[in-house]
Amino acid sequence: MTKIPFRFDSQLAGKNLIDQQLADTTKAALQKLLADSCKDAAFLEVPFDSGALNTTLAAIKAVPARFTKVLVLGIGGSALGTQAALEALKYAPARKDKKEVRVLSNLDPASISDMISWFDPKDTLLVPITKSGTTVETLTQFSIFTNIIRESLGDAGLRDGMVAITDPERGALRQIAIKTGCQVLDVPPRVGGRFSVLTPVGLFPIGLAGYDIEAMLGGAAAVLKNVDMAHPSVQAAAGQIAMMKKGASIRVFWAYSDRLAFMGDWLSQLWGESLGKPGKDGPVGQTPLRAIGSTDQHSLLQLFMEGPKDKIITFVTTKDVPVVKVPDMSFLHADLAEFANKNVDEVFDALRMGTTVGLFDADRPVFELQIDKLDEATVGALFTHFMIETALAGYILQINPFDQPGVEAGKKFAHGILGRPGMESFKARVDQVLGG
Ligand code: PA5
Repeated sequence: MTKIPFRFDSQLAGKNLIDQQLADTTKAALQKLLADSCKDAAFLEVPFDSGALNTTLAAIKAVPARFTKVLVLGIGGSALGTQAALEALKYAPARKDKKEVRVLSNLDPASISDMISWFDPKDTLLVPITKSGTTVETLTQFSIFTNIIRESLGDAGLRDGMVAITDPERGALRQIAIKTGCQVLDVPPRVGGRFSVLTPVGLFPIGLAGYDIEAMLGGAAAVLKNVDMAHPSVQAAAGQIAMMKKGASIRVFWAYSDRLAFMGDWLSQLWGESLGKPGKDGPVGQTPLRAIGSTDQHSLLQLFMEGPKDKIITFVTTKDVPVVKVPDMSFLHADLAEFANKNVDEVFDALRMGTTVGLFDADRPVFELQIDKLDEATVGALFTHFMIETALAGYILQINPFDQPGVEAGKKFAHGILGRPGMESFKARVDQVLGG
């Protein structure tokens, strides 16, 4: 895989979108980002880490055949990338020894209860993933499922029935892994959670599901070649910033593919958490919104077409669809003749193209991202494209795209409510605001 397996086009948002000043700023930001690959921007090096790949492949091979199912526990960057890849690759060919991989990414008691019914420690491998090793949701899930394993198979079950993925040194999960003797894979410390999908965080579960993780890294590596001003990820980042300057405070990822819904959720986390920060001249960021075509033509489109002019939409399309013919049923009604004997994707495309031109004519800017094949290489390439775009946008905005200090406050209050020693003042504040 040497070619980037998608095309990005910003023509419909207007010619000369990126002016000279923005081009200069982008160029300087890009140089800084590439130079930071040995520091904060370590995600740029991940696809070339053959050591991590080989360790992950060996760990996949070592999973005993009795495990036909896998339960991943995690949230945010420790879950969304895996969910995005599993969904995108749903119809891609998988290895024969593939396992059924499910991801529990929330603490909704109803979802936990469903998963308890599905989980059987005799045939289900538990894969807790938390980079920090301290996340409330993941550790709560972890307590529930490790208890089920222990009650059924004792301490040996905890040792043999679990593979943990966490920081090489820090956090409760690392210590638990040492205590139980279970296998553990490292999350590279310099790679932030939402930038970690191509580390063992995503590679291990995606590989267990039977997909070719080497090909995924190959696709990622293709995007990392020749990252210059003409590169699609650089054009996309500068294009987003240009639109932000023109008032686009909302970024819409509009995929005409059900398989890319989770990719939109993954991007929303990446874009929202990375860029929503205090900037030099006040708060910056752009609200991400995921839409699905053609479904959302009957939902969000009215707002996009005639509501506030505060959005930049990226249409994401793929040609990788099965051929489904529409039969001629026009004998029932003449209106059905329009679809008769066409392929479903012709009708689907007509709806998307119609919407694109409608938006263009209404002076609503759109970008386009076209994907041919939706396979492992493309998924790896898309992850990398969006990570470069996000990190570079952060550098252009002169904020740190790799931290998330804003999410800490709420966690402290939650620990206070749950009774963590030393957090009493946070509990007192909660009582003050919400009533004790
Ligand atoms: O990007 C991030 O760092 C976060 O969104 C994390 O991925 C998320 O909070 C989960 O963290 P952890 O993997 O430490 O459990």
